[in-house]
Amino acid sequence: MSDAETLKRQAAARALEHVRSGMKLGLGTGSTAKHFVELLAERVAQGLEVVGVPTSEATRAQAESLDVPLGTLDEYPALDLVVDGADEVGPDLTLIKGGGGALLREKIVASAAAQMIVIADASKKVPTLGTFPLPIEVVDFGVAAIRRGIEKAVRRAGCQGLLTLRRRPDGHVFVTDQGHLILDAAFGVIPDPAALAACLADVPGVVEHGLFINLASRVILAGADGVTVLDRA
Ligand code: A5P
Repeated sequence: MSDAETLKRQAAARALEHVRSGMKLGLGTGSTAKHFVELLAERVAQGLEVVGVPTSEATRAQAESLDVPLGTLDEYPALDLVVDGADEVGPDLTLIKGGGGALLREKIVASAAAQMIVIADASKKVPTLGTFPLPIEVVDFGVAAIRRGIEKAVRRAGCQGLLTLRRRPDGHVFVTDQGHLILDAAFGVIPDPAALAACLADVPGVVEHGLFINLASRVILAGADGVTVLDRA
């Protein structure tokens, strides 16, 4: 396992310490969350009783293959905990998520959970959000017009930058699990995440965006110097 994967697994292992039998658990998406699901499956095989609600079809397939019991958010609308990764962790545990394209389900699941624990390697911690392009999920209609609407709206929050329609490695347009498209916004710096979130919410055609504000209660960061735990004030 590479050094980076080892760090992700360390963060995942620490998060697993928060899991108790009987919990309804949101299961995140991405390479770090994948470690958590693997470690969770080991505990399930030893007798831990939990029900997982996956945040993507990819996570559903992984959890199913490892025999982690699964349910839906309709069956379990109030979750005890969600454990998920992040692309950036900023001040006050604000996050950018959605690098894997699962931001919409991730945000719905996080909002339904009493607690959100984010697991990441320490490189994800940043002084200001925005170096990682912000994923903005949009409907598959009038994307050029939606893009113009976003460009105009985000200026009110002091943001500007190139919006790139996300494509898969094979060149086809990336389509989310909910059948939407993603515009990745290279803002560089997001001076006021809450203001930007409010501006984006006003644009017709924007379904969701990757700014997670007041959702993460704890962030577990694994770095070369060990594991650091950050709690939201
Ligand atoms: C998935 O849509 C994302 O929100 C991921 O949680 C995020 O991109 C972190 O992924 P990694 O753990 O692979 O870095």
